[in-house]
Amino acid sequence: MVSGQVSVTTGALWMPFTSAGGSNPPVVVAGDGSHVVADDGTRLLDATAGGVACVILGHGRAEIADAVAAQLRTLEYHCLFGYSHPRALELAEAVAARTPGDLNHVFFTNSGSEAVETALKMARGYWSQVGRGSKTGFVSLHRGYHGMNFGGISVGGLPENRAGFGPLLEGCSQVPAHDIDALERELASRDPSTIAAVIMEPVQAAGGVYPPPEDYLGQVRAMCDDHDVLLVLDEVVCGFGRLGHWFGGHRFGVSPDIMTVAKGLTSAYIPMGAAIAGSRVHDAFVDPEGSIELMHGYTYSGHPAACVAGLKVIEIIEREGLVDHSRQTGLYLQKQIDPLASLPVVAEVRGEGMLAALELEGDCPEPLVAEAQRRIQSAGVLVRAQADHLGIYPPLTFTAAEVDRVVDVVGTVLEELS
Ligand SMILES: Cc1ncc(COP(=O)(O)O)c(C=O)c1O
Repeated sequence: MVSGQVSVTTGALWMPFTSAGGSNPPVVVAGDGSHVVADDGTRLLDATAGGVACVILGHGRAEIADAVAAQLRTLEYHCLFGYSHPRALELAEAVAARTPGDLNHVFFTNSGSEAVETALKMARGYWSQVGRGSKTGFVSLHRGYHGMNFGGISVGGLPENRAGFGPLLEGCSQVPAHDIDALERELASRDPSTIAAVIMEPVQAAGGVYPPPEDYLGQVRAMCDDHDVLLVLDEVVCGFGRLGHWFGGHRFGVSPDIMTVAKGLTSAYIPMGAAIAGSRVHDAFVDPEGSIELMHGYTYSGHPAACVAGLKVIEIIEREGLVDHSRQTGLYLQKQIDPLASLPVVAEVRGEGMLAALELEGDCPEPLVAEAQRRIQSAGVLVRAQADHLGIYPPLTFTAAEVDRVVDVVGTVLEELS
């Protein structure tokens, strides 16, 4: 180490979303079911599904690990440029069979951010294919989160994620979330011949868990049709059962033109995402001459190990009835957590399905949120501390008794802090 350099206890590891000058990170070494185990042996009830709502089936599913290992022994990798493999074909079919509407064309990526990037390129590419290449802009919502690639932060509605990164994608604007008149004004005032798509999450997750008014997404769908603009639903968090339905589109009765997924697609056992297009978008790209119309892809698009994990996830969701279970447990979670809104330290409780947030009081509640999270963890429960709120998004396998434990511990700590 060069003399004078600041020593950080994370050593060579430059951690995502973490202060580079930070101190010892808590280390998680194992997991089983709804629990994870810290390096000091402490067992923690994981109400965050791996920290960021991704381990939807819970930890330590040996059958997924075994299936992945078997695939790696058979064929670790060979795809791209005209080649595929059986598991990619099967997973695409399995996903398409469960999506809303005619979202039947699955383009695999390695993450949610890549799924969003792919969806944005598909949307622009679509308009170019149909001879309207001036339609390149995007409209999205304040507080929306669409990953951390340049496309995602350009359409994202969290300004702190853009700071310091210079020029972004041109033609992106955001409107207040869940205000249908604001969206109408934006689409009318920006020339629709310059707008490719509207992109939003069914329920805003990372921005603080904000469910939309019941009829909002249906109105957005109609408005996009009226203005001849595509609708992209970012289902990276909401997809695969978190709202008690296969997808948020089902929950709100809406079929987008393109949908993005990740997280639950493989329950985070292997990184994977996808952008899934309906026929209108996909068919515009089909060239009978066989040239490459969508010049886009990643080396590991549809990696065999990830595809096998995805197939196992769908098998387990159906075998264990987890979409229904998530719907029941989600209703129970919301019912149990709602009364915490009466605690003096709680500003608001919001939620939908297996997603909930407790926003804390004060002009600058971050230290209070951090202290609450620390005490809750000391009592054996993991929730997420994020800006002004505590986030709760357990694995879909959570039981009612586990919900009770989380609500009990969170309630006790917030009462102490009130
Ligand atoms: C709605 C949404 N879109 C995109 C992403 C980005 O996914 P990833 O972190 O896998 O790149 C996230 C991640 O939390 C998300 O919540």
